[in-house]
Amino acid sequence: MAATPHTRRPRYRGTHPRAFHEKYKELNPERFKSEVEKIVASGKTPAGMHRPIMLAEVLECLRPAAGEVAVDCTLGGGGHAEAILQRLLPGGRLIGLDLDPLELPRTEARLRAAGFGADVLTFRQGNFAGLPQVIAAEGLEHVDIVLADLGVSSMQLDNPDRGFSYKGVGPLDMRMNPSRGQPASELLARLTEADLARILDGHADEPHAALIASLLKQTPLTTTHAVERRVRTGLTKALPRLTKADVKNSVRRTFQALRVAVNDEFSALDALLRALPRCLAPGGRVAILTFHSGEDRRVKKAFQAGYRAGVYAEIADQVIRASMEETRANRRASSAKLRWAVRADTP
Ligand SMILES: C[S@@+](CC[C@H](N)C(=O)[O-])C[C@H]1O[C@@H](n2cnc3c(N)ncnc32)[C@H](O)[C@@H]1O
Repeated sequence: MAATPHTRRPRYRGTHPRAFHEKYKELNPERFKSEVEKIVASGKTPAGMHRPIMLAEVLECLRPAAGEVAVDCTLGGGGHAEAILQRLLPGGRLIGLDLDPLELPRTEARLRAAGFGADVLTFRQGNFAGLPQVIAAEGLEHVDIVLADLGVSSMQLDNPDRGFSYKGVGPLDMRMNPSRGQPASELLARLTEADLARILDGHADEPHAALIASLLKQTPLTTTHAVERRVRTGLTKALPRLTKADVKNSVRRTFQALRVAVNDEFSALDALLRALPRCLAPGGRVAILTFHSGEDRRVKKAFQAGYRAGVYAEIADQVIRASMEETRANRRASSAKLRWAVRADTP
């Protein structure tokens, strides 16, 4: 009889794993299905898993139908893509695009195992700023549906090696594609204090931008925890009237501003918004989920300008927010804003 392969669970201190890499059950949802279901039912997101935000609302805006072609510009864990693709069949197909070369193969393996073959689902690693080129490379003139769910996935945030969050100690990296560009630590070292203050203000509306910039430029910082500690202790000392929650928000905005700068996120979004009208077929739908005001402002303005110019036949008149229920079950939904537009029939 063949021996069953046996792997030891990772060693950890205490009764429950705390560090990301120790959470072996959450990181293997196929093997530990019931444990992972319990975590989801308790309102938490298991490590290494991304729960699609406002899924019902996104589907309502995009109205995917059999035979149509869609691009998910931000595939992530493939939650939105899977639900859209189910509605495109039979006869339709979806192109899943993502900048992240580390998570993309995991999502590809999951969706292939779920039964989606190469005839209906294509994966592309790249930046959505190049959406027209992605569509042309697939031999298409335009598509019926485009989705962009901006920012980072839970898998990226939770993994301390990626350096996106201060919840775990990790290198100050923050690149969605780690094989390109500069990690956040190098960006911090290169920027002048004045440029850094501009980034903190412009990318995250940080009210204490100048003070935080001076704190971050005191000595080189190379880990997520070092940045968190420098901002937290520096702000608390310089502005004792700030509450703990105020300081925490400033730390969060500092991380957001650095991530946006490292990945040049606003330039990519601007390029996508410019390209959308020529990527969408007449009557085609686009939905964009944003997570902070800098993103939402851009989407709102571009859709309104397109509507005035007759490029879009219809646009969301109000921003759509996650329900109380979803926000309670998934904290990451609380800052999400959804906007949509419909391409006009005439070119
Ligand atoms: C919030 S997650 C998407 C989650 C996905 N909707 C799901 O249901 O799992 C955002 C994803 O967009 C990717 N991303 C961010 N900016 C991008 C860009 N400019 N081009 C392509 N992908 C990008 C990130 O790597 C990340 O995987």
